[in-house]
Amino acid sequence: MSENDPTKISRRNLLELWWIAPVLGAGGFFAWFGIRSYRILLGKTPPGTPNFQTGNKFKIARVSDLQQPGDAKAFDYPIKIGSSIQSLPAILIRVSTPQPGGLSRGGTHLIALSRVCTHQNCTCDFITKPEIASMAYKYRPPAGNPILGCACHFSAFDPEKAGMSVSGPALKPLPRLQLEVKNSDVFAIGLEKI
Ligand code: FES
Repeated sequence: MSENDPTKISRRNLLELWWIAPVLGAGGFFAWFGIRSYRILLGKTPPGTPNFQTGNKFKIARVSDLQQPGDAKAFDYPIKIGSSIQSLPAILIRVSTPQPGGLSRGGTHLIALSRVCTHQNCTCDFITKPEIASMAYKYRPPAGNPILGCACHFSAFDPEKAGMSVSGPALKPLPRLQLEVKNSDVFAIGLEKI
């Protein structure tokens, strides 16, 4: 190949193209950021009618243990995985309005949610202070209600929206547990498959 070969890229030509790499890098970053933001803001799945899978019957509490909206009781629900029984961290919450997949009895509305974050499986905390929800999780629950917050990447889930992801990278809602009340005792009897 001679020095005058038009197909040969000279060092000078290369230097004139220095800007391509940063422009491609910046373009790629903004495309990634845009897609990620779109998915986080608009890609969240609302909880529909739950597809409950019948499981163990586990007593959680008495109805009277949760005296007002916002009261809650954490529990470990035994689930069968393969040939072993494992514990699913979960929580029973008294909410102010009937929830799909929850249970209402008289004026008492309950919902039970898995506490395993649907982003990357960390365990969610029950956040009762609206200021913490607002500052740490960028979500202010409408009536100051508690939320479930995942401290790993700050996803927030609203029990008053049937466990929907309302902030952060998690897209799917928290799975609900099927509830039953017998003689004023509240039981979990199954788990939603999502
Ligand atoms: S694991 Fe919960 S937000 Fe990432």
